Amino acid sequence: MRILVVGSGGREHALVWKLSQEAEVIAAPGNPGMDCECFDVSATDLVGMESLCQRLAPDLVVVGPEDPLVAGLGDRLRTAGFNVFGPNADGAQLEASKAFSKEMMLRAGVPTASSGTFTDPEEALAYSSERFEAGFQVVVKASGNALGKGVVICLTLDEAEDAIAEMMIEGAFGEAGRTVVIEDRLIGREFSLLTIVSDGQFASLPVARDYKRALDGDRGPNTGGMGTYSPCDWISPRLLAETEARIVQPMVNQMVSDGISYRGVLFSGIMVVNGSPMCLEYNVRFGDPETQSVVRRLGFGFGEVLMAAAKGEPLPAVEASSDAAVTVVVASAGYPGSIKKGLPIQLEEMPEGVVVYHAGTKLSESQLVTNGGRVLAVSAIGKDLDEARELAYRGVAQVRFDGAFFRKDIASIG
Ligand SMILES: Nc1ncnc2c1ncn2[C@@H]1O[C@H](COP(=O)(O)OP(=O)(O)OP(=O)(O)O)[C@@H](O)[C@H]1O
Ligand SMILES: [Mg+2]
Repeated sequence: MRILVVGSGGREHALVWKLSQEAEVIAAPGNPGMDCECFDVSATDLVGMESLCQRLAPDLVVVGPEDPLVAGLGDRLRTAGFNVFGPNADGAQLEASKAFSKEMMLRAGVPTASSGTFTDPEEALAYSSERFEAGFQVVVKASGNALGKGVVICLTLDEAEDAIAEMMIEGAFGEAGRTVVIEDRLIGREFSLLTIVSDGQFASLPVARDYKRALDGDRGPNTGGMGTYSPCDWISPRLLAETEARIVQPMVNQMVSDGISYRGVLFSGIMVVNGSPMCLEYNVRFGDPETQSVVRRLGFGFGEVLMAAAKGEPLPAVEASSDAAVTVVVASAGYPGSIKKGLPIQLEEMPEGVVVYHAGTKLSESQLVTNGGRVLAVSAIGKDLDEARELAYRGVAQVRFDGAFFRKDIASIG
């Protein structure tokens, strides 16, 4: 089986690493860490990607990032006869439009925070004011993709007013923020559930906990993710079963009855409120850096699962080991703010059990240099979390570039 992985980040490197154990893998555009042939076609170049597929004839195309899916890469390649893992543009709206996503959740009966969707700032403000009077705080969300900056938790009505003005009047996120979803603020612990969906059927992957904040102790600004670990002991089998029954299954059913053929990952963002799961959002792709830890625990046959989903067939089982995986992201100084690129990277020999995934690197005259905020993800496997954590940090110590920083508490704090 020949598999084309679309994308160039740490998540795609992890997919390449795993799938290479069972298939011939190629990537586009790929990154310098990938041990496979990479083709220089941008993930959002739909025409270029289709002609690459015509030339290479992959049996399966696995699309990593959401942008090409939202733009219709899935539709285009399917129409051309390829097996694609990743939803079509209609299914990708679950991530691309929070207004659409909320409306689907309501129709599917998925438990989620009460909300309103607005295109008029006056109405948005009036609604926020009502919610504060009713004793809630609100979260103002740009409906479209605002590069992770479009969600504002508002503790006061003044803060809500500012967020509404910024998004809807000043247009801080362009069209993405002209429509906002305003929802009640929930309080609880969060986790994400990644589920492989093959039209009406699904199978969840092992759960990973991710760390979004830049600094130790969950302080500092939000990032794309600074590390993960898996498994998560605090998520009981009962909580998982309830999450599947109340949040995954109804959405999968809803898509079938709406005529949306969904073949890809459904990523459910969950907050546990008084012991019960509430849905914060859906994404339509693998989590980054969750995938970097999760693939370390998966047994043989992952490629077959993705292929079955791509064809809308029954999903074979894929075993997860009881081992623990820990992934620590090494980032550029200044991340998630402005960063410097092009700094030389030294990678000393890694201990056994460590895999280094590249995320923001490039080759400059055969020297590996930094090329993004999140540069590398160092991932380790061990018999338990303590062992995996210790090994991951031994690996991190072997990475050197100017201003490299990482969190020191991955898998140490819950
Ligand atoms: N109703 C809510 N109550 C409390 N916190 C919330 C609520 N909605 C979102 N959040 C917080 O904001 C974060 C981002 O929200 P959400 O997942 O909707 O946005 P996003 O930009 O699509 O995120 P991602 O980049 O993970 O896809 C959540 O992980 C959660 O911490
Ligand atoms: Mg999202």
